[in-house]
Amino acid sequence: MKSIGVGLIGTGFMGKCHAVAWSAVGAVFAEAGRPRLVHLAEADEALAERRGREFGFEKSTADWRRLVEDPEVDVVSVTTPNQFHAEMTLAALAAGKHVWCEKPMATSLADAEAMTKAARRSGKVAALGYNYIQSPAIRRIGVLLSEGAIGEPNHLRIEMDEDFMADAGTPFGWKHAATSGYGALDDFAVHPLSLVSVLFGRVERVICDMARPYADRATGDGGRRAVETYDIASVLMRLENGMSGTLLANRSAWGRKGRIAVQIFGSKGSILFDQERFNEFQLYVTSDRPTEQGYRTVLAGPVHEPYGAFVPAPGHGLGFNDLKVIECRELLSRIAGNAHARLIDFETGLEIERTVEAMARSFRESGWVSVR
Ligand SMILES: NC(=O)c1ccc[n+]([C@@H]2O[C@H](COP(=O)([O-])OP(=O)(O)OC[C@H]3O[C@@H](n4cnc5c(N)ncnc54)[C@H](O)[C@@H]3O)[C@@H](O)[C@H]2O)c1
Repeated sequence: MKSIGVGLIGTGFMGKCHAVAWSAVGAVFAEAGRPRLVHLAEADEALAERRGREFGFEKSTADWRRLVEDPEVDVVSVTTPNQFHAEMTLAALAAGKHVWCEKPMATSLADAEAMTKAARRSGKVAALGYNYIQSPAIRRIGVLLSEGAIGEPNHLRIEMDEDFMADAGTPFGWKHAATSGYGALDDFAVHPLSLVSVLFGRVERVICDMARPYADRATGDGGRRAVETYDIASVLMRLENGMSGTLLANRSAWGRKGRIAVQIFGSKGSILFDQERFNEFQLYVTSDRPTEQGYRTVLAGPVHEPYGAFVPAPGHGLGFNDLKVIECRELLSRIAGNAHARLIDFETGLEIERTVEAMARSFRESGWVSVR
């Protein structure tokens, strides 16, 4: 069978993460086969050439359109800043390629809708980079919920915090410009929403507040530019399944490095998870004897799919990039025809974008907003 040909656009944080995933997926998951690293695109020729060599791609270019038109490329990883996702994805789908696009899907709902329509029309697989749904602990939590381990879930709290914008001295970057979207909503809230989607389904209505801790930031020319996005978002939400919930996101939260703290409360127990310690979760069940009731810590191991594909020993732990390797396996599985592969495809991604849009509208209008 012919190896699937990979094109990679962008080689920053996520570009490298995709490159690692494309390189590792065949070694970790034998059934995934060996993708061929065909074409890499970066913003300038020298960087494209250097990254192409480092990542092991056959060709490199400073013109991403050449990559998209390359007949040897079957699937395109889009890992550029948010404002390019729509244009690059639409071009890749029009050229008959499968697409693996980083989150957020787009910077406007109209673009996300156009992308979803194009994906439908093309019949190609179009998936988004929502890696956190892939963790073995989150998968196990999903099974526990469906088995009723904590009874009927009734309340959810999700917080996503990092501190990469916490320093007022951090210069103005693409994430501070309105062209990147709303800020914490596009950067962060979409990740918790991907978890909500796989664990509980859709959000019905929201009320949202947003805040900007620093009004302006230094620019490269010695000046200052007003910050156009919001680092902080606080949301109350009601899910379609009746659960109440909160979603709090802050990318200026000193001390938080990669926190996605999930608390799920049910009629017979609760589950706690934090992405900063994603090789474990806590379970509290009322069926334990009252004398010993308390949270137990469950360490991820080979019994938690697909941990064992990486490491045979429990408690040794997976890392962030491994989540991308799993996502890559799921993508290849969907391309091979498995409709149940665990992915946030463009249809579900559009639902997340609608929810973000409802949050932004709720902030503008200062009231509850229905997602649909
Ligand atoms: N899934 C996740 O956990 C996760 C984490 C971080 C970022 N992201 C998303 O990944 C995307 C990229 O973020 P990042 O942190 O990797 O950014 P980054 O700035 O580190 O990398 C972006 C890269 O794209 C390149 N680029 C820009 N314009 C280009 C063009 N026209 N052609 C080719 N290359 C171009 C830049 O030179 C840079 O190397 C964003 O949309 C972000 O939201 C996802």
